[in-house]
Amino acid sequence: MNLSATLATASPTPLGMEAAPPSAAAAGVSVRNVSQRYATRDGSDTVALSDVSLEVRKGEFIALVGASGCGKSTLLRIVCGLLRPTAGDVMLNGAAVREPCDDTAMVFQAPTLLPWATILDNVLFPLRMRGTLKPESAAYARALLKLVGLEGFEGKFPRELSGGMQQRAGICRGLIQDPDVLLMDEPFGALDALTREDMGMELLRIWSEQPKTVLFVTHSISEAVLLADRVVVMSPRPGRIAEILDIVLPRPRSLDQLGEPAAQAAIRRIREIIYADRKGHVQFVE
Ligand SMILES: Nc1ncnc2c1ncn2[C@@H]1O[C@H](COP(=O)(O)OP(=O)(O)OP(=O)(O)O)[C@@H](O)[C@H]1O
Ligand SMILES: [Mg+2]
Repeated sequence: MNLSATLATASPTPLGMEAAPPSAAAAGVSVRNVSQRYATRDGSDTVALSDVSLEVRKGEFIALVGASGCGKSTLLRIVCGLLRPTAGDVMLNGAAVREPCDDTAMVFQAPTLLPWATILDNVLFPLRMRGTLKPESAAYARALLKLVGLEGFEGKFPRELSGGMQQRAGICRGLIQDPDVLLMDEPFGALDALTREDMGMELLRIWSEQPKTVLFVTHSISEAVLLADRVVVMSPRPGRIAEILDIVLPRPRSLDQLGEPAAQAAIRRIREIIYADRKGHVQFVE
């Protein structure tokens, strides 16, 4: 697939669409003293998160990094309302999150597509579930699929796509909801390096045009620095916030900025924090 070529031929309107999707307003997220303890079969508990507090401003792009098992997915599931924390609260625009709501959308670590539905129907599925499917939704879904290099695969079933292609369809399923808060759990983990870079820059473009608050989990330190306003570095289990770094690179961002001293300093600092404690299973790409 050639994402750059797809974008180069796109019209100036977002995603080359005739009709723009409903635009969401961004929402602030407040994570207050959240802890999560999982009961396990053998009777011992796993403390996944310990007293995590984080204020995310409306429209902010936050990247979460930390060793495998430090509770990043757990935190996203709590913010999404899929999991009630054992202690603490999450507030969305001042209201407590108790269950999944229309204001948030999640791109999961694994694509979790419906095996019996076509790729197009998988992307449209959240709108169908919420009763917000519109006549122009299919055109928007097709535009999103084209954007991620899946043009021509709309009528295929998930089993007919590679893992990376399925993940890209999962990203479209998150984006089509145009949520106030977009939660992305290692969305680019299954993509090749070049597509990953393209997708990162494309995500920034969509984010700048359709304001939303983004919480983005990644194992790539440089990706976190390139995309985020702030990078939240978590410590190994039980997950706590070790440090929050402001990324002061101007926007719009470009890949070249990773060479700038501010970016290099941020990358160095994040590495220091993460590698200072190697108890966790460290699994990072550069
Ligand atoms: N449903 C569950 N039941 C029991 N333990 C769980 C459950 N989900 C997660 N855990 C445990 O909680 C801890 C945090 O898991 P989580 O998936 O949030 O980590 P993560 O930071 O997303 O890791 P990775 O980078 O590998 O995706 C791990 O020790 C994991 O084994
Ligand atoms: Mg995870």
